Amino acid sequence: MARTEKLEELISNDEIQDRAKELAEEIERDYQGREIVIVCVLKGAFIFTADLIRYLSLPSQVEFLAVSSYGSSTKSSGVIKIIKDLDVNIQGKDVLLVEDIVDTGLTLNYLKENLKSRGPESLKICTLLDKPDRREVDIHADYVGFVIDDYFVVGYGLDYGENYRNLRGVNLLPEEYI
Ligand code: IMP
Ligand code: MG
Repeated sequence: MARTEKLEELISNDEIQDRAKELAEEIERDYQGREIVIVCVLKGAFIFTADLIRYLSLPSQVEFLAVSSYGSSTKSSGVIKIIKDLDVNIQGKDVLLVEDIVDTGLTLNYLKENLKSRGPESLKICTLLDKPDRREVDIHADYVGFVIDDYFVVGYGLDYGENYRNLRGVNLLPEEYI
């Protein structure tokens, strides 16, 4: 059973909603008159994607892909595998990849190269959270919700060993739980 008694909220759901609205406005300005394919990276980005797309009035299509993740540890192995691939061809499309968090950047780096090789018209990245302190590869997202310090966070889609995804806001996971 996952413990919840000492979780501390870092970013509230209200703050996330406000920021998601701002990001949606920015995205709309940048993609005016175009149609986008939103690619949600499962599982962590499912809640953020669901909120973000409801603030977007651009014509858009939502697709999902899943990559192998941390499992129950908090460190990236650096070995990234696509577990569930896209069901559509993105060649010639304007693609917006939606992630939960960029940490070492290894996952995003892999995904970016992989998707680029499929010939999209454009490829941009939107992430809810950015942890620049732990970056191992030079990669940045085009749209960033919040920059955070080197904490392990859970909630609003983000997990630790598949738990805590349902928390409404982004919470700090105490060291003693890890
Ligand atoms: P990266 O490859 O190290 O950038 O890790 C990216 C992935 O690791 C994210 O998509 C998350 O699934 C997971 N991750 C990294 N940091 C955290 C965190 O603080 N909480 C939960 N998951 C995280
Ligand atoms: Mg993820």
